[in-house]
Amino acid sequence: MSHELEQLRDAALAEIAAATGEQVLDAARVRYLGRAGSISAWADRMKSLSKEERPIVGKLLNEARTAVTAAIQQSAERLRTMKEATELANIDISLPGTAAELGTLHPLTQMLDRGIGIFRRMGFALAEGPDVETEWHCFDALNTAADHPARNEQNTFYLPDGRVLRTHTSTVQIRTMQSAPPPIRVIAPGAAYRRDEVDATHSAQFHQIEGLYVDEGVSVADLKGTLEFFLRELFGSDSQVRFRPHYFPFTEPSFEIDVKSKALKGGEKWLEVCGCGMVHPAVFEEVNKARKDDAYDPEKWSGFAFGLGMDRLAMILFGIPDLRLFAGNDLRFLRQFA
Ligand code: DAH
Repeated sequence: MSHELEQLRDAALAEIAAATGEQVLDAARVRYLGRAGSISAWADRMKSLSKEERPIVGKLLNEARTAVTAAIQQSAERLRTMKEATELANIDISLPGTAAELGTLHPLTQMLDRGIGIFRRMGFALAEGPDVETEWHCFDALNTAADHPARNEQNTFYLPDGRVLRTHTSTVQIRTMQSAPPPIRVIAPGAAYRRDEVDATHSAQFHQIEGLYVDEGVSVADLKGTLEFFLRELFGSDSQVRFRPHYFPFTEPSFEIDVKSKALKGGEKWLEVCGCGMVHPAVFEEVNKARKDDAYDPEKWSGFAFGLGMDRLAMILFGIPDLRLFAGNDLRFLRQFA
C-alpha cells in the first residue's frame, strides 16, 4: 500500500489538474502546502518518527512538495493562457480604431514660415528679442520723440515697472546692433502689441517680420530690390509694387509699399503691405551711445529697415476677411489651410 504522503500528493495533483480557476487552484495550494496544509503537516510529524522512518518520509515529503509546487505552476500557466485566449476572442477586430488626429500648421505660422524662407534665401539671418521690452528699445533708440503718440498709454501696453509690450519688432534691430558690429543682415519675426479696439482688421496682438541690413554703401536701390523681390516671390512674379513716401521716426527717407496683383482677391486694388526706409543716422548714434563705441558710424555705414505685418499679408494672400478668425480656434476655418 502506498504511503499517506503519496496518497496526499496524488489527490493534490488530481485536484490541481482539474482546477478551473485561479481561486480553486489557490485553495488547493493552501490546503496541501499552506502552513496548516496536510502535506506540510508531515514536516512537524518528522520529529516523532523513528530514526529508520525519518529519511524515508523526508524523501517522500520533499518529492510530494516538489511535484505539487510544479503542478501548481503549470496549472496557473494553463489558466492564464486560457484567460488570454478568451479575452482575445472577445475583441471585435472589425470595430474601427481610434483615429489619430493629425494637426496642421496655423495659417499665420505658414505665412511666417513662407516669409522667413524667402528672406533666408537672400542671406538674412534670424534674430529674436523679448516681447516685454524697455521703453528705450521700443521708442528712444528708434528716434521716437518723447511726445510721439505711439508712446501714449492709449496706444501702448505699459507694465507697472515701466516696461512695454513691444509695439513692433523693430526693437530687435536695436538689440542686434547692440550685440554685434556691422555688417548686419537680419530679420526679426515675432509678435507685437498695440492697444487697438479689436475688429475685423485690428487686434491687440499681431505679427511682424522686420528686417535690417547695414553695410557700407547700402542705398534705396538695395531696399527696393530686396523688397520687390520678396513681394513678387510671395504674391506672384506679375505683381506690381509701388513705393510711396511716408514718415517713420527711425528711417529717412521712409516709404510705404503697396502691392497690386491679379492673383489676389480684389486684385485691382493697391494694398498697403510694408513700411520701410533708410536707417536714420540718429538711430545709429543712439546705438553707438549704448555700445560706448563708434561701431555704427553713420558716415561710414548705411542701412535699410522694413516692417511687414504678417497677419495682414496672410489675410491678403489667403483671402481671409476677418482677423479675428486667426485666434478663434474654429476647426472649420483652420482645416482649410491643412
Ligand atoms: N515699425 C513699423 C510699424 O510697426 C514698421 C516699420 C517701418 C519698420 C519702417 C521699419 C521701418 O523697420 O524701417 O509699423
